[in-house]
Amino acid sequence: MTRDSETSLKTRKKLHIQTWGCQMNVYDSQRMEGLLRPLGYEVSDSPEGADLVILNTCHIREKAAEKVYSALGRLKKMKDAKEQQGGQMRIAVAGCVAQAEGAEITARAPQVDLVFGPQSYHKLPEMIALAARQKGDILETEFEVEDKFDVLAKDRKVEGYSAFVTIQEGCDKFCTFCVVPYTRGAEVSRSVDSITGEIRALVAQGVREVTLLGQNVNAYHGQSPAGSGSETFGLGALLRHLAKIDGLDRLRFTTSHPRDMDEDLISAFGEEEKLMPYLHLPVQSGSDKILKAMNRGHKAEDYLRLIEKIRAARSDIALSGDFIVGFPGETQADFEETMALIRESQYASAFSFKYSRRPGTPGAVMAKQVAEDEKDARLQALQGLLEEQKHAFNAGCVGKVLPVLLESKGRIDGQLNGRSPYLQGVHLAAKDHLLGQIVPVRILATKTNSLTGQLVSGYGQSDGVGHTEVGQGFEGGQGVRS
Ligand code: 5AD
Ligand code: SF4
Repeated sequence: MTRDSETSLKTRKKLHIQTWGCQMNVYDSQRMEGLLRPLGYEVSDSPEGADLVILNTCHIREKAAEKVYSALGRLKKMKDAKEQQGGQMRIAVAGCVAQAEGAEITARAPQVDLVFGPQSYHKLPEMIALAARQKGDILETEFEVEDKFDVLAKDRKVEGYSAFVTIQEGCDKFCTFCVVPYTRGAEVSRSVDSITGEIRALVAQGVREVTLLGQNVNAYHGQSPAGSGSETFGLGALLRHLAKIDGLDRLRFTTSHPRDMDEDLISAFGEEEKLMPYLHLPVQSGSDKILKAMNRGHKAEDYLRLIEKIRAARSDIALSGDFIVGFPGETQADFEETMALIRESQYASAFSFKYSRRPGTPGAVMAKQVAEDEKDARLQALQGLLEEQKHAFNAGCVGKVLPVLLESKGRIDGQLNGRSPYLQGVHLAAKDHLLGQIVPVRILATKTNSLTGQLVSGYGQSDGVGHTEVGQGFEGGQGVRS
């Protein structure tokens, strides 16, 4: 594959990307930026005056398409204004709404120049060139496509110390509430070499923590490196492989399906110090009847036993989940089973939703849809319980020393923000020269969504010399020290 193409477009152009939805979309947007930079595009925070605006959309929530159309209405005014001044603004709609709505978008919003789904991002320069030619512009690019992941991984610039890397896309699970298998398509995994190459490049830019992304990340089965003795690597093998990268200190992954949590992956939690003790493992419901109707492919008991095994490998793991209340046919008794499962599992954090009918999914046409006020009441009760559990988890950290990766400056001068191994945000007083380091922090208190702490006494308060950084030698690895 060659992508060092010359382009006749020498002038700088402004690119604005608005991103909705999941981390995968955030990642894709970064990737699109990387792809467009060599074509002369500079990223702008605002659509005002931009030459190209991309709406990277998400279809998982209700009214997603409507939000996109109202954003397009606002953009039309800016586009018209720019054209009146003799300029040009191209508007593109990308992501899952683009995939789902297709030509409907340009029919309803003629100001849109380009519509493309998640599988075509790597063709973006070609598509832009084509749109430009159709409008009479001259833009010559030569672009040969190999595979989406490799093309997108090139030229990626990141800021900060923590980055996301997509390793797998799409899903074949077909949960009956979910649009992902229709919008993101069948499951594809990226090769181990390509992931390793991208992460090495990120580490060279200062990244210390990587979160591996995939709609169904633990179904990963990518081509293994030559000579490894097996054709593909699962997620456990991939994590062990990536843990060998010098300069990379923390690994995370999301989102997982209970059915794909294999023994190798579970044991990695106990064995790989760089693998952070945090696991997002959605169960959606605690009722076997509802799990079946959702086509989740496991029972509540299977999930509970799985959590036991994971805790046996890594006792301090912070468990996170997703829940849906009010799936068609869910009775109060079914809901109580979800509450019971939550009580038994003990979550450190969680996301919960009212079921919403996604057109084209089996759930949307199921009988016994649950009344809205019933869903509201269940969601409130469920979130109350999950909040209590989150608070208890956070409170359990008070008084302990946690290794915190300092990621950004705080809102107050002299304050930095970081992340604990359990993905909690931690605020503390610390000097800027510590940014990007993993430091020992004594946790003092919990706030609603974060922790406050202080540097362990004497640590890093000077000018940045004469201290040893907390890393793998830290007592208890990157877990808790009490
Ligand atoms: N209704 C409500 N929640 C949904 N999710 C996905 N589809 C729907 C839907 N139709 C939730 C699930 C999933 C998370 C990403 O979004 O809990 O795990
Ligand atoms: Fe959607 Fe996740 Fe189910 Fe796949 S496993 S269909 S992405 S909820």
